[in-house]
Amino acid sequence: MSASVPGDYVIRSIRAEEWPAVKELRLRALRDPLAHLAYLETYDDAATRPDTYWQERAARASEGASGARQVVAVGPGGLWLGTLTVLVEEAGTTDWYGSPVERRQGHVVGVFVRPEWRGSGLTKALFDAGLEWAWAHGLERVRLIVHPDNGRAQGAYRKAGFVPSGRTVPLAGGPGDHELEFVLER
Ligand SMILES: CC(C)(COP(=O)(O)OP(=O)(O)OC[C@H]1O[C@@H](n2cnc3c(N)ncnc32)[C@H](O)[C@@H]1OP(=O)(O)O)[C@@H](O)C(=O)NCCC(=O)NCCS
Repeated sequence: MSASVPGDYVIRSIRAEEWPAVKELRLRALRDPLAHLAYLETYDDAATRPDTYWQERAARASEGASGARQVVAVGPGGLWLGTLTVLVEEAGTTDWYGSPVERRQGHVVGVFVRPEWRGSGLTKALFDAGLEWAWAHGLERVRLIVHPDNGRAQGAYRKAGFVPSGRTVPLAGGPGDHELEFVLER
């Protein structure tokens, strides 16, 4: 069956007990050739985390939790094909990068689609589901951070409606090492 045929997969929220699949897909993502641009942790760091880490991570972003939501595309045979997570950032808090959060907003992280499903429309379907959840939870805008050299991810985010905000976020790599903020207003 062709990967590009719509309807080959189901997009849904994860359930807390599915933490082994959360772990498997995350470790797969961290082995991507672009993982060093795409994610802030390494495969080696993630692979040594205890089961309790994955259990808590899955529970925090599962159906019924209000502070985050992980959506997945589930393909034939139950294989997880792709994922993203929307984190809720509350107004008045400080974000991961030390900046104040001015509005109640979503922050999309952990975007990954298995290579054989890229370019199939599955990424847009994941965003549609994540954004539907964000708007239903009263979030005023959704943002994400992407590396300047990750052109494919930027293309995918533009297709999902995001645009560069003009803001950059410094990275640990030293002066000049930064990522771009993309936003989608409700
Ligand atoms: C990022 C990712 C989820 C995007 O999903 P995808 O299915 O590959 O994205 P799509 O093919 O739907 O969209 C990418 C778009 O960017 C375009 N594109 C590809 N390379 C590009 C480049 N270097 N510069 C600009 N645009 C580019 C594609 O042509 C496509 O647009 P089109 O459909 O109009 O042709 C997926 O590639 C992935 O998992 N990558 C590895 C992990 C990663 O980088 N995650 C993001 C972390 S921020």
